[in-house]
Amino acid sequence: MGAKGNILVIDDELGIREGSRRALEPQGFTVETAATLQEGLRKIREGDFDLVLLDVMLPDGRGIDLLPPIREKDPDIVSVIITGYATVELAVEAIKQGAYDFISKPFTSDLLLMTVNQGLEKRRLSLEAKRLQAIEREAAELARAKEELERLDRFKATFTLMVAHELRAPVHALQSFLLSLLKGYIPPDQQQTILQRAIERSQELLDLVDDLLNLAAAKEELAPPKRKVLSLADALEKVVPLLQVQAEEKGMTFTVEVRQRPLVEANPGQMGQLWTNLISNGIKYTPAGGRVTVTLEEKDRWAMGTVEDTGIGIASEDQAKIFEEFYRTPQAKEMEHRGTGLGLPLVKRIVEGHEGTIEIESALGQGSRFSFRLPVATGVTSEGTNQSGQ
Ligand SMILES: Nc1ncnc2c1ncn2[C@@H]1O[C@H](COP(=O)(O)OP(=O)(O)OP(=O)(O)O)[C@@H](O)[C@H]1O
Ligand SMILES: [Mg+2]
Repeated sequence: MGAKGNILVIDDELGIREGSRRALEPQGFTVETAATLQEGLRKIREGDFDLVLLDVMLPDGRGIDLLPPIREKDPDIVSVIITGYATVELAVEAIKQGAYDFISKPFTSDLLLMTVNQGLEKRRLSLEAKRLQAIEREAAELARAKEELERLDRFKATFTLMVAHELRAPVHALQSFLLSLLKGYIPPDQQQTILQRAIERSQELLDLVDDLLNLAAAKEELAPPKRKVLSLADALEKVVPLLQVQAEEKGMTFTVEVRQRPLVEANPGQMGQLWTNLISNGIKYTPAGGRVTVTLEEKDRWAMGTVEDTGIGIASEDQAKIFEEFYRTPQAKEMEHRGTGLGLPLVKRIVEGHEGTIEIESALGQGSRFSFRLPVATGVTSEGTNQSGQ
């Protein structure tokens, strides 16, 4: 490749071809020539040119018709039209097709050199601009990635802080109960009550630690080897009895309606956590005497579960927030001061980790409905699809 550039001269006049060669080669350009449109086309396709000098009239066609193949080969190849008579019409057409400049026959070596150098300068600038654009795009991408990392970093820091804060409260309560007992501040007839409260706080602490462990495990356990094909109905029926007791204690109506028994490819423990968290929320955030209804069905290769209650509801501005760690609505805090706000983040992680989705419909003071869907296990048919579970 010539140090200053590769030039292709396409002209049927030998004088122009050789004249151009004599003018350009001593200046450090590499020059190739073609005498017909066909030969020119072949050289364009095979070669690697920076600039093409192109005669308008060739024995086998119009030179302008080479402009599209030149652009197709490399949009930054500079084309200069050689013409015996420059007409406006021709100029307009050539420029439309992407020609850069004209040079009229006969021309001096100086004019040729100047035209070629200007054309190559234009090419250099255009390539440089493209390179800069690419660098800019890369820089923008890097900036985005950096921002995302910083956001995660900030999240980690606040998360740790919130965990510490949540853990501190029950431990602090336990410690003051124990100190009061140790120092004999508690009259014997109240000791039983204090111990009972201490046990409750330690249970709270255990629940919190379990939630944190589940949440942390949710990510790793989702890897396919820990999954198996299982019935989502079985997972539901396993957790129902305990929840039934809780609902009955509050005088609530608790109904479970298993319409189909879809099979999913999932982590068994997590399917239990999914149902338990959604149903226990329904029971927890519904006043005594209310209703919690659970349904399960299969539709279009999706396992669809819903948990609906007639409870306190969730304001629309809170509906996205409740999936964030530790977020609890003001209404929930007022009704039930126990709770850490880790249940739904776990639910979301489990559902999304199994390629599913979850949605809420809710109105404050009227009730809530959580609907999730998980893909039915591929390659297996769910036998007994129409048998009702309850
Ligand atoms: N069925 C529901 N009805 C009304 N509000 C709900 C319901 N389910 C969840 N919420 C709201 O979403 C918040 C987050 O729920 P999540 O299950 O994550 O936490 P929690 O139940 O408060 O505590 P825990 O970590 O013990 O489950 C709740 O505090 C409550 O504000
Ligand atoms: Mg909960």
